[in-house]
Amino acid sequence: MDFQNKHILLGVTGGIAAYKAVELLRLLKKAGANVNVIMTASAQKFVGKTTFEVLSENPVLSDLFFDTESSVKHIDLATRADAAIIAPATANTIAKLAHGIADDALSTTLLAVTAPVMICPSMNTDMYQNIRVQRNLDILEKDGWQILDPDSGILACKTVGAGRLPDPGFIFDRVEAMLTKKDLNGRKILVSAGPTVEAIDPVRFVSNHSSGKMGYAIAGAAEKRGGQVTLVSGPVSLESPVGVDRIDVVTCEEMALQMLANLDQADIIIKVAAVADYKPIDPKTSKIKKKDNNKDLSILMAQNPDILKRIGKKKTKDQFLVGFAAETNDLEKNAVMKMQKKNLDMIAANIVGSTDSGFKADTNKVKLFFRDGSFVDIPLMDKNKVANILIGHIIDKMG
Ligand code: PMT
Repeated sequence: MDFQNKHILLGVTGGIAAYKAVELLRLLKKAGANVNVIMTASAQKFVGKTTFEVLSENPVLSDLFFDTESSVKHIDLATRADAAIIAPATANTIAKLAHGIADDALSTTLLAVTAPVMICPSMNTDMYQNIRVQRNLDILEKDGWQILDPDSGILACKTVGAGRLPDPGFIFDRVEAMLTKKDLNGRKILVSAGPTVEAIDPVRFVSNHSSGKMGYAIAGAAEKRGGQVTLVSGPVSLESPVGVDRIDVVTCEEMALQMLANLDQADIIIKVAAVADYKPIDPKTSKIKKKDNNKDLSILMAQNPDILKRIGKKKTKDQFLVGFAAETNDLEKNAVMKMQKKNLDMIAANIVGSTDSGFKADTNKVKLFFRDGSFVDIPLMDKNKVANILIGHIIDKMG
């Protein structure tokens, strides 16, 4: 999702979580969006207008009659908006929006918005669970607006329960999803990510440097595009992408089991995981001790199953199978050979061993090779962008 040239309306109402809207604004601006903030009078009791004005680089609209040079500024903003987000949304503003009341700059502007709207309720738990508030949220949801459930936890009023405004990063992620074209609607995507870990003894293991970033980026991008995503993940320290069904595994055998168990339902299979090709034949149940008279230690290794090759043998003609190739040399030759040997529809080859591409990096430089002999060079860019380009090519090829 590219926020460049996108106009976002950010409505801020009077709740203690208004300060989180500042961070949300910062994230939207960082992504390239043009943001216009509209504040209610009570929102300004919590955070000053100037903060939003400086960060948005736009005047803040708060009073229809005094703030603007144009008497129809709110209509201009509503017409130009690609999306509107109300964060935090109080019970009062939710009630007004649900019933079409237009008595301040925010509620009046929102009546003229035709773009997608996201409401992020934030208030005391009893207030949030109040039947009137829930009824109003139902009305807005039935009208096609998106309601983001509040988080649970300790609230400003010291009660514990639902009502906290979610993390700004999470709201940003959901706004991105709301604006993304749903070209994977109805498709099931099976992704593997991260390393596998093979025990030597209870404290040592054989593994690799995969952080999971590339696979998680693909899983997250596929979910935002409407796909139903299952992510089989080796041990990583990343949070699950929102809306993705994650299955944690450790070893190659476990990954193979889960990938094959979920294979039949999948339309697209993308195998990003860096699987350990070998595992210790005889992992010890207690820690191997250092022996002074033994300078060298040999560990006998056995070959792990090639999961991708197995999937390649089982896949149907309707399934689209993608592998990754991590290469230090002869990128094209090795990648194409792997594609043919494992019966893939596409392989994404990346040179590994540099700091800005492949393992651990936030960016990647990938070359896609297709079964029909065509290829595409993706220059060095953020892994989230690589993920979207890669998915775009899969959709093109599947037709
Ligand atoms: O996780 P990150 O830090 O973001 O790093 C991303 C990445 C470098 C791990 C990723 O971009 C990548 O290249 N993944 C594939 C790594 C790899 O194992 O490459 P390979 O060339 O050894 O294997 C080729 C393909 O066969 C891969 O799709 C792999 O998942 C699969 N394979 C390999 C061995 C095995 N026993 N079973 C398999 O399924």
